[in-house]
Amino acid sequence: MDESWLRQEIFPRFSRALARDEIYLANHSLGRPPDRMAEDVRAALDAWYRDMDGAWATWLEGREKFRALTGRLVGVAKHLIIPKTSAGQGLRAVLNSFSKKPRVVTSDGEFDSLDFILRVYREQGRIELKIVPWRELDPSGADLMVLSSVMFRTGEVVADLPKRIDDAHAAGALVLLDVYHHAGVLPLDLATLKADFAVGGSYKYTRGGPGACWLYVRPGLVETLRTPDTGWFAKKDMFTYARPEPPEFGPGGDAWLESTPPVLAPIQALAGLELTLELGVERIRSHNLEQKALLASLIPDLQGAGDDHGAFVTLKHPGAQVIASTLRDRKVKVDARGDYLRLCPDILNPRAELERAARILHSAL
Ligand SMILES: Cc1ncc(COP(=O)(O)O)c(C=O)c1O
Repeated sequence: MDESWLRQEIFPRFSRALARDEIYLANHSLGRPPDRMAEDVRAALDAWYRDMDGAWATWLEGREKFRALTGRLVGVAKHLIIPKTSAGQGLRAVLNSFSKKPRVVTSDGEFDSLDFILRVYREQGRIELKIVPWRELDPSGADLMVLSSVMFRTGEVVADLPKRIDDAHAAGALVLLDVYHHAGVLPLDLATLKADFAVGGSYKYTRGGPGACWLYVRPGLVETLRTPDTGWFAKKDMFTYARPEPPEFGPGGDAWLESTPPVLAPIQALAGLELTLELGVERIRSHNLEQKALLASLIPDLQGAGDDHGAFVTLKHPGAQVIASTLRDRKVKVDARGDYLRLCPDILNPRAELERAARILHSAL
């Protein structure tokens, strides 16, 4: 996957995103969509005009493809992927599934959405909550451990994840992983990891934009644990409109579906997911490691270039926010979280762009 191959085979599929006059290094935030994304969404809308409610066949086919592709990406069966509009929606479905007030332990490095939800649940007396630095996370006495596998501020890959999961299980806690900064850029096998739940989404590395997120629930739990975050798409034989007592759920992960879903978001995510699987996460990762190493050689203070970090590199600086806006004015798009300036190269950034961005960053510093 060298640059000349990428220019020839892949760049033409991104003619619209690449038409922008900008060095885009915010690929860890909003991923750049392939041209086909708009065509897929258009076709899904055309089906509505043409077929009216007959469009549901197209829409549900899109949703099932989204589940299958995501399942392949993270190493689990398709039905275990439950489409959600956000990672936070997935977390809420899990929190609400506990019949007794759960004791939750989490890290202070979780993304704001999950962190906020957990704190609000605590404020409302729905959960007990302990928040500690991720390296100090101790599952003893917890019912649920919520942890990112790659930290969103620093890009650190959580070391010993399999051991941490095993320890949590030994302590009697279930584990929910946030793999938003992992799926699509680092190999991931949720089944081998024995994660109980995971949340992720297509906004970033798989180029599917907002709204196409998912919850994974492992076999053994998905059929027995019930969440009140439900609706008629979770019913057994929904189109019979039967109302058995007690209510009966659809098979496997379908029991975790909810009400009438948004239909365009999963379709919007298909082209990016297919491209990710076509290229292969291993190849994407080794290309990304080369790019991060190049950036680190050009900007010595950068952190996170090694394979103990995810796809982006960081520069810790008290003026990170100001630097990000100075760079934006100079047509280099990066972002900042707290003191961390985050830069994420991807397959669409040629070497010359990274060299230029490094020069501009030097002058901004
Ligand atoms: C680690 C992580 N989790 C979750 C999210 C998104 O959460 P939500 O889909 O609830 O908005 C992000 C978004 O940037 C993230 O970085």
